Amino acid sequence: MRILVIGSGGREHALLHALHGNELTVAPGNAGMSRLAQVRPIDVSSPVDIVGLAREIDAELVVIGPEVPLVEGAADALIDAGIPVFGPTKAAAALEGSKAFAKEVMQAAGVKTASATRVESADGIEAALDEYGPRYVVKDDGLAGGKGVVVTEDRAEAKAHAEAVIESGNPVLFESFLEGPEVSLFCLVDGETVVPLLPAQDHKRAYDNDEGPNTGGMGAYAPLPWLPEDGVQVLVDDIARPVAEEMVNRGIPYQGLLYIGAAWGPEGPAVVEFNARFGDPETQAVLSLLETPLADVLLAVAEGRLDEIEPLKWHDGYAAMVVLAAEGYPQAAKTGGVITGETLDDPSQVLHAGTKEEDGEYVASGGRVLGVVGKGATLEEAVDNAYRIIEGIELPGAFYRKDIARPAIEGAISL
Ligand code: GLY
Repeated sequence: MRILVIGSGGREHALLHALHGNELTVAPGNAGMSRLAQVRPIDVSSPVDIVGLAREIDAELVVIGPEVPLVEGAADALIDAGIPVFGPTKAAAALEGSKAFAKEVMQAAGVKTASATRVESADGIEAALDEYGPRYVVKDDGLAGGKGVVVTEDRAEAKAHAEAVIESGNPVLFESFLEGPEVSLFCLVDGETVVPLLPAQDHKRAYDNDEGPNTGGMGAYAPLPWLPEDGVQVLVDDIARPVAEEMVNRGIPYQGLLYIGAAWGPEGPAVVEFNARFGDPETQAVLSLLETPLADVLLAVAEGRLDEIEPLKWHDGYAAMVVLAAEGYPQAAKTGGVITGETLDDPSQVLHAGTKEEDGEYVASGGRVLGVVGKGATLEEAVDNAYRIIEGIELPGAFYRKDIARPAIEGAISL
C-alpha cells in the first residue's frame, strides 16, 4: 500500500516502523526516517499542501500524526479529495483542539472529568486561583502539543503561567486536581466502534522523581502491570464508547485515534484530557508490541470498517521507551550537537524525534532528540534493555531520566 505519514517526531518514526513493508512517504519527516520512507518537505498546517502531496504520490492511505493538521482540517480536505485518511475531521478533532468542547461532550456523555473554569482575560485570574487551590492545574486552552499544562502548589507559578497563556492570545483553563496514577489509553475509533490498544503511562516531568518542568514526555512504558485486569474495559465502557456515541449523536462521528489521558482515583478513572492523535512518547512503546500489521488496521478505520477486523494481536511482555533530550530542554534546548552510536539506524531500538543530517552525521535539531525502545519478558528487563541502548549513544550535554517505569517495577503504584 502507498502510505503518506504526516509528521516529524518520534511518534511518526514509530508509525513508519510499524507500517514497514509498505511504500512509505513521510512529510516533513526527519533525518532518521529516510531509511524507512521517502522524506518530503511540507507545511503540515496546510491541508491543500497535504492533499497535493497525497495526489502526487497517489497515496492509498494518509496517516496524520500530529494535532495541528487535524485541527486545521487536513482530514476533511483529504475526504473531499476521495483519499482515505486516518485521523478525525476538524469538527471531531475539537475534542483535543477545544477543551471547552471536550468538557461539553463529556458532560453530555456522562463521563467523569475535572471541574474547570475558563478565563479569557487577566482580570479573572486571581478569582480562579482562589477557587482552585491548593493544587493548581493551569492549562493553555489552545493547542500546546502537550506542553501547555502547569501543575503546581506554588500560587505565583500558577499565576505566571496563566498570565503567559493570556498574553499569548489563548484563554486559560483552571481545573480541579484529579487524584491517582495516570493512564494513557489509545483507542481506534470508527463511529461507534472502539478498539483499544495496550494501556501505557508516560513521564511528563523533565527530571527523575517527577521533578522539574513539564515536558512533551520523557519516557513511557506499556502495558501497565498495576492496572486491574478489567482496567482497559472500564476505560472503554465508561469513557471511550460513551464519547464515541455522543459524537455520532451530534453528527460529527469520530474516525481515528482517540487518546484518553485519565487519572485513576479512588472512584475510578476520570478524564484529564483527550487528544485526537497518537501520543508521544507512549506510541513508541505501544506499537513496538503490536503483532497485527498496522496498515490494514488504520485503513479499516479510514474506510469505516473497523468493526470487521480481527482482534489485535500483541507480543507478550513489556516495552519501555526513554527519551534522550538536548541540554537545556525544555526551557532552551541546545541544538546542533553531533549524535553518535551504533544503534542510530535501527528503528527497532532508536526512534528519531529532533535530528537532522549534516555532512553524513546526525545532529540534534530539537529538544527531544530521540527515544530508545527496550523490550523484555518483564518490565524490569524491558527497562534494562532501554537503558543499555541509550548508554551506547553520545550527544554532548544531553540527558535522560533514569527512573522510567521505576515506580511500577517497585510496586509503588496502587489504586
Ligand atoms: N504523551 C503526551 C502527549 O502526547 O501529548
